[in-house]
Amino acid sequence: MADLITFDAKTQVFHLHNQQISYIFAIEDGGVLGHLYFGQAVAGYHGERHYPRKDRGFAGNLPVAEPERGFSLDTLPQEISSRGEADFRIPAFVIRQADGAQASRFVYASHRIVPGKPKLPGLPAAYVESPDEAATLIVTVVDQPSRLQADLYYTIYRDRAVIACSVCFRNPADQPAVTLEQAASVQLDFPASDYRVLSLPGAHANERHLQKEVVGYGIKQFASTRGTTSHQMNNFIALTAPDADEFHGDVYGVDLVYSGNHALTVEKDQIDQVRVVAGINPAGFTWELAGGAEFQTPEALLVYSHQGLNAMSQTYHRLIRERVVRGRYRDQERPILVNNWEATYFDFNEAKLRPIVDAAKKLGIEMFVLDDGWFGHRDDDTTSLGDWVVDSHKFPLGLKHFADYVHNQGLKFGLWVEPEMISKDSDLYRAHPDYLLAVPGRAPSPSRFQYVLDLSREDVRANIAGQLSDLLDQGYIDYIKWDMNRHLSDIYSHALPAARQGEVLHRYTLGLYALLEELTTKYPDVLWEGCSGGGGRIDTGFAYYMPQSWTSDNTDAISRLGIQYGTSLVYPPNTFTAHVSVSPNEQTGRSTSLATRGNVAMSAVFGYELDLTKLTKTEQKQVAAQVAAYKQIRPLIQFGHFLRLESGNDYAWMFVSADQNEALLFTFHLLNNGQPAFHIVKMAGLNPTKQYEDTATHTVYGGDELMHMGLYQPLQRQDFTTHQYHFKAIN
Ligand code: GLA
Repeated sequence: MADLITFDAKTQVFHLHNQQISYIFAIEDGGVLGHLYFGQAVAGYHGERHYPRKDRGFAGNLPVAEPERGFSLDTLPQEISSRGEADFRIPAFVIRQADGAQASRFVYASHRIVPGKPKLPGLPAAYVESPDEAATLIVTVVDQPSRLQADLYYTIYRDRAVIACSVCFRNPADQPAVTLEQAASVQLDFPASDYRVLSLPGAHANERHLQKEVVGYGIKQFASTRGTTSHQMNNFIALTAPDADEFHGDVYGVDLVYSGNHALTVEKDQIDQVRVVAGINPAGFTWELAGGAEFQTPEALLVYSHQGLNAMSQTYHRLIRERVVRGRYRDQERPILVNNWEATYFDFNEAKLRPIVDAAKKLGIEMFVLDDGWFGHRDDDTTSLGDWVVDSHKFPLGLKHFADYVHNQGLKFGLWVEPEMISKDSDLYRAHPDYLLAVPGRAPSPSRFQYVLDLSREDVRANIAGQLSDLLDQGYIDYIKWDMNRHLSDIYSHALPAARQGEVLHRYTLGLYALLEELTTKYPDVLWEGCSGGGGRIDTGFAYYMPQSWTSDNTDAISRLGIQYGTSLVYPPNTFTAHVSVSPNEQTGRSTSLATRGNVAMSAVFGYELDLTKLTKTEQKQVAAQVAAYKQIRPLIQFGHFLRLESGNDYAWMFVSADQNEALLFTFHLLNNGQPAFHIVKMAGLNPTKQYEDTATHTVYGGDELMHMGLYQPLQRQDFTTHQYHFKAIN
């Protein structure tokens, strides 16, 4: 472990390091934890960045017998900052003490270093498979007057540029209750410099578009108050050097392993230093910490790259693919599916679906997914959520009968559910009108005519787990699409007293995690796909339960270029799904060729979402060829390294195998013009000394040629064109 984490008793400095990164902090005056460095690996720390002392106007000092005017919490970079004791910047936590005051200050008490990475009870987190993969530093700090403690967890992996952080707050058994009003997962202070901040804002059907801004003075927050990760703002940001791009420059990623309300807040202070605080959104959050109780924050994953965004993304991709996603499908190729949503919407029955299954079989598709509308009497979106029982009008012989048909055609059978929701027109509501989130005396707001079940309650979870188990116990369901089609409002739980209603949103997320843990453990052979009106809950926490998620309800190939580009900043392509749908597209009305739709969808976990019985003979041939091609390239797409090359009017990205013997290049040209410039695409990540053969043309190129000279893109008199190149090394 000493090769990963050291503590120098003389300098009082902690150093977490591997071949790629160093994270360094010190026990400063008064026991305060002062942050020193996060970045490219340094072999040993010799005091270079000890924080200089300087008396700043209006700065408070530590309340000791002989205060030092040059030492102030208001400017010192720290590991965990509080409110109320002269650090006027954004705090990492806020505690309402038993006497009503908000003052607190955590100082060093003790530390220990353990092999591996402890699990976080009830929360998703990155994991290790053997204790040798990582080491964890646990520093205990104490707020001396209240004796409240916090354990700061820092895990460093041996071969990843990642630090995993979280905090566990503990109130001693003999102490009165206090209230946590904020409890961030991580605080990261940066020295004075010019920074940019990247974030992933969006909207329903328009998720995760890369936004880059100058970090200016003041406070900027990237947050969700919607009870879930949201389409509107993903829970990841990165700070970068001003000139950082896909291949160059310092990049610091901060990613929350959480699916509830989040806040990632950035503050540039009076002397150009920058603080990032990330964790549960304090808006609407309180947590009563009784004597003897503890509170564990979600985990934050910090990634550093000195080679731009692609290197950061690859670190996240490998970590999420190998040490966040779990279960049988983690290392298994994901089936090519056809989903009936855009094919039929609610208007289907067994007889109407069978020909789609037959067509899927002929085309080589591997799974049929039955989407919304199979249960209760759900012919539109006004009814039946909560009643997970088959609609006998649509399936007179039962669901198993249809699933057997699908299986007999050689396909797997998948099913859509939306277990967190309830319709007022449902047996569940009629039996349990108190199950939904609603404030007494106020009518709860519908959204898509539906309401949210109070998953913070054990009895509500037990009901849903029971209904889903009844379905899954029958053994014919190979895949579940777990949807969530509204955000949380009317936050109130009948299970909690008035003073603790601030806990409801986090308890909802914990309840959801408990339910998912129970079901994914009980049904390990099921492939679970996350969804929230498309990509409203794509986050690293959800990936712990769901190996893949539906990226967006927008299936237009051109819209998807930007959506998938942004999504790939953090999430590996084998965790997000993409389907070929009809042209003109149902969401945008845009027409694109089957080849373009195919190449966009093939760049992730591939499938179709259209009525396969309506394909022309030519289209059938094309689809069969796409399916066959994807089966060939699937290992590379789903387990290779992904690299973004360019975006704008021309998009290009590629996949390379770990041994650099195989590579796929996808290029997309959006709008044409009358006098087009010749466009060159340069590849990356290849071995410059290898010779690569284009498997279609058999032309051989050096890896160095493909990367440094690049390839001219063919001109076509058409918008929205695409090319796919497959290279194999021949030496
Ligand atoms: C959400 C999903 C879609 C589909 C519909 C069904 O919008 O993202 O894929 O399942 O719900 O209502």
